[in-house]
Amino acid sequence: MNSDNKKALMSVLANEKPHRRPLWFMRQAGRYLEEYRNLRKTAGSFLDLCYNPDFAAEVTIQPLRRFDLDAAILFSDILVVPQAMGSELGFVQNEGPKLSVTRSMADVEKLELSRVNEFLDPVFNTIKTVKPELDSHVAFIGFCGAPWTVATYMIEGGTSQDRFLSKKAAFSGETWFDVLIDKLIIASIDYLEAQVRAGVEVIQIFDSWASDLPDLQREKYCYKPIAKIVAGLRERGVQVPIIGFAKGLGAGQLDFVKAIDMQGIGVESSLPVNWIRENLIDKVAVQGNLDPVLLDIGGPGLKENVRHIVSNIPMDRHIFNLGHGVRQTTEVDHIHIMVDTVREFDGS
Ligand code: CP3
Repeated sequence: MNSDNKKALMSVLANEKPHRRPLWFMRQAGRYLEEYRNLRKTAGSFLDLCYNPDFAAEVTIQPLRRFDLDAAILFSDILVVPQAMGSELGFVQNEGPKLSVTRSMADVEKLELSRVNEFLDPVFNTIKTVKPELDSHVAFIGFCGAPWTVATYMIEGGTSQDRFLSKKAAFSGETWFDVLIDKLIIASIDYLEAQVRAGVEVIQIFDSWASDLPDLQREKYCYKPIAKIVAGLRERGVQVPIIGFAKGLGAGQLDFVKAIDMQGIGVESSLPVNWIRENLIDKVAVQGNLDPVLLDIGGPGLKENVRHIVSNIPMDRHIFNLGHGVRQTTEVDHIHIMVDTVREFDGS
């Protein structure tokens, strides 16, 4: 490790040559780590962990003590934003998030924008606690959920198999749905701006359910809301690089890149690396896209797939990552194999 390593991620996002391929992975802090499970027990619930700046800072740093990574990602959740607007949020063991439902104009009108950053003050304190603890080589990533993805959790009241009610509201052009999206755009700009002021150096916007949207709806509910967040941040003088992760767009990733001025995009595991090389890397830095199942199960397929990715995507346009978050059952040894295989290939 050396003090130039932080430059790797920033260089790739600035379209400059990095001295090594930057590497981090989504959900790098979490339940697959014993030290996370222990601290979560001490904290009580997942939300108690998120809102205690000392605990959340500790969890943010945990994976960096084990692995040679180039970035830390703030430990929090995309659903703290609806909670900050007044939705009730809880996480039920083995069931995931539960939110009070938002399904009408009356529900949307109840959501308050004025209290968002005050409510989320503990998150900014987490950032301030983490920052001085990070080695000089590690970049610090903040994040929020994209309006479509966050709206689906608010409308369904939690995780849903098919997000039918959300799609129904969007595709039939419900006015309350458009107002909800607009409120989420404003809340996200305020929240991300405050994250940057507190110390994050890169922003990632997670649109995990972007693939729900058919071609004609993508513009309105995926690209435009994210573009407005990016434009809103730039208007306020926020200059940090932005990574958009619109999961599952396939060839539509090209439209996503053309529609929004982002420095990086995260791509799903099903996107062929040859297609990425031929279509995307001349336009934007690409982050991804190892399948988290390959990382979970290990074996010869792990190294083979890591090598397939790194040998096809040049390191000056690539941020090595997964196509989605690390799975809870993943063995720590497999992560060492993944990291070592990337470093060996690049000779770094
Ligand atoms: O990546 C990181 O390490 C940073 C922290 C982070 C978490 N969630 C922590 C978390 C980030 C960036 C997220 C994003 C997030 N949260 C997304 C977008 C990315 C994706 O996974 O698609 C979404 C959709 C959520 C909403 C969410 N949070 C769900 C559906 C769940 C339940 C599923 C699950 O894995 O338990 C969560 C809980 C959650 N968020 C956990 C963690 C570590 C597990 C909580 C626990 O039980 O300890």
